[in-house]
Amino acid sequence: MTNFLSLIIRQMKRVKSYIKKQKSSNNIMIRFFILSLIFLWNIIKTILCFCFSAEYRSILFLQLLHAKEVHQTTSLTCMNRYPEIFKACRDYFNNKKELTLLSYGCSTGEEVLTLRQYFPQANIIGADINKHSLARCKKLMVDDKVTFIYSKKSELLKYGKYDAIFCMAVLQRKPHFVRSNGITNLKKIYPFEKFEQTVNELDRLINKDGLLVIHFTQFY
Ligand SMILES: C[S@@+](CC[C@H](N)C(=O)[O-])C[C@H]1O[C@@H](n2cnc3c(N)ncnc32)[C@H](O)[C@@H]1O
Repeated sequence: MTNFLSLIIRQMKRVKSYIKKQKSSNNIMIRFFILSLIFLWNIIKTILCFCFSAEYRSILFLQLLHAKEVHQTTSLTCMNRYPEIFKACRDYFNNKKELTLLSYGCSTGEEVLTLRQYFPQANIIGADINKHSLARCKKLMVDDKVTFIYSKKSELLKYGKYDAIFCMAVLQRKPHFVRSNGITNLKKIYPFEKFEQTVNELDRLINKDGLLVIHFTQFY
């Protein structure tokens, strides 16, 4: 079965690279045919994703209904994604026990679970704007000092102020697309004003001597 699947995948890759080559064919009819094929495939892919992927639907609705508030739309995350940063923060707080931490853009909760390992006693709030991801967070086995909230000003205020806010891989848009296409002006994709406003809002939620940790972002 695995062999059969890998055979199919190999064949599909060959077809894909053949089609890619034909995109720049000298024959206008072939070019037209290939572009129509790609167009059709994209439509089919979109319909399939819409029907079968709850994550795809949640991101689509976010972009349509919360375009102003949403930053990075993908929910890509993993456990212990930034060990050096987490270690440095733990050292900074030097075993202080009464800490309240915010994972702003916690996605499906792995960042919150990781923070618990670095800060065993802290109150940890995970906030996200994607309700599908939040629903997954709420199914996690966590202790009663962990809370997941919908990311909006009033909720963030209710649980703050925070000793540290982790804003990791949130304040950006389409970073891979931007890099691979050599895009240098982000005005249409992710304007600086949006970044600036969010940084200011998060900054107001920080306790004196607290940390605002921003990583993987398009402005430095
Ligand atoms: C790429 S994930 C990053 C997850 C995690 N912080 C990490 O670094 O592994 C980006 C997350 O930011 C969330 N996000 C986007 N805009 C947000 C907002 N305004 N408030 C809270 N979360 C937001 C997305 O829903 C997504 O789950």
